[in-house]
Amino acid sequence: MDLEKIFHMKGGLGETSYSNNSSLQVSLSLSLSLNICKRAADKVKHITLESIEEMFVEIRPRSLGIADLGCSSGPNTLSNIKQLVHAVEMVCNMQLHQPPEFRVYLNDLPTNDFNTIFQALPDLYRELNKGIRRRNHDGHGIYIAAYPGTFYGRLFPDNCLHFVYSSNSLHWLSRVPPGIYDEEDGVPVNKKSIYISERSPPRVSEAYSRQFQEDFSLFLKSRSQEVVRGGRMVLILLGRRTTGPDHIDHLRGNSFFWEILYQSLATLVAQEDKLDSYDVHFYAPSREELEDEVRKEGSFKVELVDMFETDKDAGNFPSYGVAVAKTVRSIQESMLAHHFGEAILDKLFDHYGRLVDQELEKQDVNSITTLLVLARL
Ligand SMILES: C[S@@+](CC[C@H](N)C(=O)[O-])C[C@H]1O[C@@H](n2cnc3c(N)ncnc32)[C@H](O)[C@@H]1O
Repeated sequence: MDLEKIFHMKGGLGETSYSNNSSLQVSLSLSLSLNICKRAADKVKHITLESIEEMFVEIRPRSLGIADLGCSSGPNTLSNIKQLVHAVEMVCNMQLHQPPEFRVYLNDLPTNDFNTIFQALPDLYRELNKGIRRRNHDGHGIYIAAYPGTFYGRLFPDNCLHFVYSSNSLHWLSRVPPGIYDEEDGVPVNKKSIYISERSPPRVSEAYSRQFQEDFSLFLKSRSQEVVRGGRMVLILLGRRTTGPDHIDHLRGNSFFWEILYQSLATLVAQEDKLDSYDVHFYAPSREELEDEVRKEGSFKVELVDMFETDKDAGNFPSYGVAVAKTVRSIQESMLAHHFGEAILDKLFDHYGRLVDQELEKQDVNSITTLLVLARL
């Protein structure tokens, strides 16, 4: 399956769009995440803005390159950019310096709904121009462009970036690991699971872990050529607290949500082979796995790693289960519809939301988000 052609967040501004259902994603956009995970969002915001400010004070580029990798098309996208630009401008205002010109590169897969972002740009420019001294007389000093393509490979020219931000994107692998299919007949070995579960044979978790290592090292290698010395990367992704060699999330972490999706699918899909051949291209790495890859690749230094639990607040939805169901649907819909057809989606996610609520009444879930700050050596 060609993920670059199929996988995309639900575009537009409709009821099931990512734009309207991305509030569970912990990101820099504090305003959006306020009801859902304020503590986590506060921390992410503080560390992210501090990282760009520190980098700016150290390097002081006249032309500052910022990339948002896996930007999607929700309200998070431009609000993140606005906050990064403001943070640098505040430093300049305090030190009575002219702000730099900003080059902003928005990246996502080519199937992303970039049009919705472009339509919001005039408002963003207007807002950014309010009351700020700009260095160039004729323009706004902020140049925003889209760079469609996979971040597992080169995206930008050499040494053009000072700050890379990526939230809720790097836990997506470049593909479902080929090692989870039998080498001879291609039959899936991860039966009755769509991700690593307690039922999975050891080769499944090994294959997922290998795929993560391959992808993340390629990500680092590609960025190492694009980010200038002293540049920073703030990477926010789902993670795992357990560190055992089986790579299983024994603490009812993020894999719980895939287990519930499997159970929901099993109530609706009668053909076993259809169900067994569906697996997600997702991996929640442990802190050690992330640090190991950074060390092995060698171009970046780990400045900070933090892990925190996402709060379980339903926000404006009737229950937390419904909120999770809406978010997971907006993210997984394209893949599920491709494999099982669109007809099952409404029932699937009704069931999914109910199951999440029922399970949470029995036992808690610890959804972990990892924040990693790297500096280019
Ligand atoms: C859950 S969204 C997160 C969006 C936004 N950053 C946020 O925090 O709300 C994940 C995004 O990562 C993108 N993505 C996944 N794999 C990617 C890849 N290999 N290259 C570029 N973007 C990718 C998806 O298309 C999707 O838009």
